[in-house]
Amino acid sequence: MRRPNHDQVSPSPSSLAAREPSVTVRAPAKINLHLSVGPPREDGFHDLRTVYQAVSLHDEVTATPADKLAISVEGEGASFVPVDRRNLAARAALALAERAGVEPAVRLRIRKRIPVAAGLAGGSADAAAALVACDRLWGTALGQRELLALAAELGSDVPFALTGGSVLGTGRGEVLTPVLSRGHQHWVLAFADGRGLSTPAVYAEVDRLRGDELAHPVPGSADSVIAALLSDDPTRLAPELGNDMTRAALSLRPALRRTLDAGLELDALAAMISGSGPTCAFLTSSADEAVKLAAALGAEGVCRAVRTVTGPAEGAKVVPLAEVPGPGSTAPTASGRRDH
Ligand code: C5P
Repeated sequence: MRRPNHDQVSPSPSSLAAREPSVTVRAPAKINLHLSVGPPREDGFHDLRTVYQAVSLHDEVTATPADKLAISVEGEGASFVPVDRRNLAARAALALAERAGVEPAVRLRIRKRIPVAAGLAGGSADAAAALVACDRLWGTALGQRELLALAAELGSDVPFALTGGSVLGTGRGEVLTPVLSRGHQHWVLAFADGRGLSTPAVYAEVDRLRGDELAHPVPGSADSVIAALLSDDPTRLAPELGNDMTRAALSLRPALRRTLDAGLELDALAAMISGSGPTCAFLTSSADEAVKLAAALGAEGVCRAVRTVTGPAEGAKVVPLAEVPGPGSTAPTASGRRDH
């Protein structure tokens, strides 16, 4: 039997930290091409059948060794994000440290481009980015399967933020099955005026509006969306898009109807609420059409800002050092207002 060679043990987390002073990870926003919501479960969650798609709008988290856990947030909606242990990225670092038996001695700098409470899973992206960044920084090398399990404990959308792509989500959204898709979809996102929508409040509104229909047996099928994704034809995909949370989001934020209608009048192939809202997503036939629609929609004054994105995008990924932006730089967001 071979004896263990103690000269070749893995480097300790601290020696790895010394070699790699900081790690930056980029994680994507998501939209839901299909979102069927089942009845509430005993644990307070709802069974879902959803087709997630990661899109090219990212938050970045930089993890740097520190004496203790510290968080800073800058960029889109930063003032709405807690910088204490309620922060999902902070909870991700604490969960990973506990699992791996290391000190959560890290400073997390979160650079936000994904709006907060917008139905785009920005908090989940930050958590996924923090998991990957701390795993690399501390040399804990948990592996994808263990990271996915930790992610599922943090939130229903966090596992998807790790994988990215186009993926079928079941359970409460955390059970993932990859979906084959061809080509890329070109979207326009319209960020809503005012505060975001609370996800639990929108789920509660789904239940309230369903009333007696709450006996609703199981979430509906996503097969037609999955088949359309194989075609690389946005005109096939458009009629299959659907979101059971639409009625509830519109009930809580009726002004979104104007935004959806404006996009359709401007020839979007389809208009939908992203997740629990209030972001609206518009499918277009090409990158050029997306730019045209974004400009026209921005001029309508029916949203705070517009953004063109493509999907599917990759999941949480370490950013090579040469691409890490300097301090204070944040991405521009096109204004969607005519009057300012
Ligand atoms: O999992 P996550 O922390 O993102 O969920 C936030 C809230 O959204 C939950 O506490 C629950 O109220 C609601 N939710 C739900 N069913 C799901 C996912 C989330 O009711 N499948």
